[in-house]
Amino acid sequence: MPNPNPRLEAAAKNWSDIEEQYARFVNPQWVKLLTALGLNKRFVRSVGAELFTDEGETYVDFLSGYGVYALGHSHPYVTQQLIEELQSQRPSMLQSHIPALAGQLAERLCTLAGPKLEKVYFGSSGSEGVESAIKFARAFTKRDLIVFADGGFHGLTCGSLSLMSNHWWREGFGPLLLDAGSVPFGDLEALEAALRKKQAAAFICEPIQGECGVRLPPPGYWKEVAAICQRYGTLLVLDEVQSGMCRTGTFLASHQYDVEPDMVILAKALSGGHIPVSALLMRNDINRAVYSSVDKAFVHASTFSENSLAMRAGLATLDVLESEKLGDRARTLGERFRRELSALIGKYEMIKEVRGLGLFNAIEFQPPQSLSLKLLYGAFHKAHPGLFGQMFVKTLFEEAKILAQMAGHNYLVIKLIPPLMVSDAQLDQAINGVRRVLDMIENSKTHFWTQGLKIGAKALGA
Ligand SMILES: Cc1ncc(COP(=O)(O)O)c(C=O)c1O
Repeated sequence: MPNPNPRLEAAAKNWSDIEEQYARFVNPQWVKLLTALGLNKRFVRSVGAELFTDEGETYVDFLSGYGVYALGHSHPYVTQQLIEELQSQRPSMLQSHIPALAGQLAERLCTLAGPKLEKVYFGSSGSEGVESAIKFARAFTKRDLIVFADGGFHGLTCGSLSLMSNHWWREGFGPLLLDAGSVPFGDLEALEAALRKKQAAAFICEPIQGECGVRLPPPGYWKEVAAICQRYGTLLVLDEVQSGMCRTGTFLASHQYDVEPDMVILAKALSGGHIPVSALLMRNDINRAVYSSVDKAFVHASTFSENSLAMRAGLATLDVLESEKLGDRARTLGERFRRELSALIGKYEMIKEVRGLGLFNAIEFQPPQSLSLKLLYGAFHKAHPGLFGQMFVKTLFEEAKILAQMAGHNYLVIKLIPPLMVSDAQLDQAINGVRRVLDMIENSKTHFWTQGLKIGAKALGA
């Protein structure tokens, strides 16, 4: 048997070799970007909400691997369940058997999600969940058109990318799905106009738009959307890849919006932070439209779907969400977090809004009004529209040891999505960190702005 340990140890001694190898064989631009932004730390261990470097530093994770680490890093129960599964020697992907755990996980997901959702298709990523939703919707309705909301993020495979209007992601990848069209998020009239001709198979949308900067729906929106979809025979598909699994305080975000979708997509946190897995939950009749006869029993399938490690990770994740009451925790901690961050509005001219639900939160900034800041901000914006947001993330990382992320579709928004088990003290660390960075930006101006302009020139191609 190969022994990987000496190789790993040798590699750990020489981090620059790892970087070089990654740059040479995987993605050199990623190494350059992380280095320029000062985020290229040698993380060697991650436990709970904390990330540890080889230099003895500790960071608190308010990015959660884009939402994967809802339970925190290296959860001991999930780890133990996965070790047991590996040691059990049960077959995982025979492709000619009934997987032991898939039915169990599907039943628990359907029970948690709501009465209309009675079947599950498992995949390995959020994008695959979205791709599958497109196929199921088309098969059921016998229509081709998929309607989506501007500003949404649904994944980067061709079908999922077709449901994203943002030019930056689409540019250079050729024609995507032709039968896909967008409406503004929150605009009921536009949605009705798009569905009126009864050509749309599905309206696929996030209940809360994540990459757009945690954009919440207007009051009553989702109930009305469901009524409009029903009126025109269009399926309502909610992409809860990021908002689901208790992130907002309830199992699904849509549970707080009085709406029963026809399909729901889950992924990210369902993995327990270890094994890629996604789940497309749907009505029985939608499932039957695809698996319509014995002859069609595997007409939509994937090699890794329902593999036992992924199923075990999903089951273990649900156990932890329930036993640690992480939904309740997300709700109460989230309320406090937003309340205390909101207290900064008015004290600093650049902070515009704090918004979110549960522990799915964001801070939106605005261009400054005072003359001296206006000039500095203007230079930043000219260098690159994303420079201010990236510099905020970098400074928060360096000064407060908080790892966060700028929203991909709204450069003036910083997303804060910690593990749901984050402690009160760690939330305080983030709140104090945001305050400190704002002080640096608005009161002791030089370092933040001069460093930013240097980095802008180097990293962001300005
Ligand atoms: C809402 C939403 N849908 C779909 C996806 C795509 O998921 P994946 O990256 O697992 O393919 C993402 C990823 O960030 C997402 O946030």
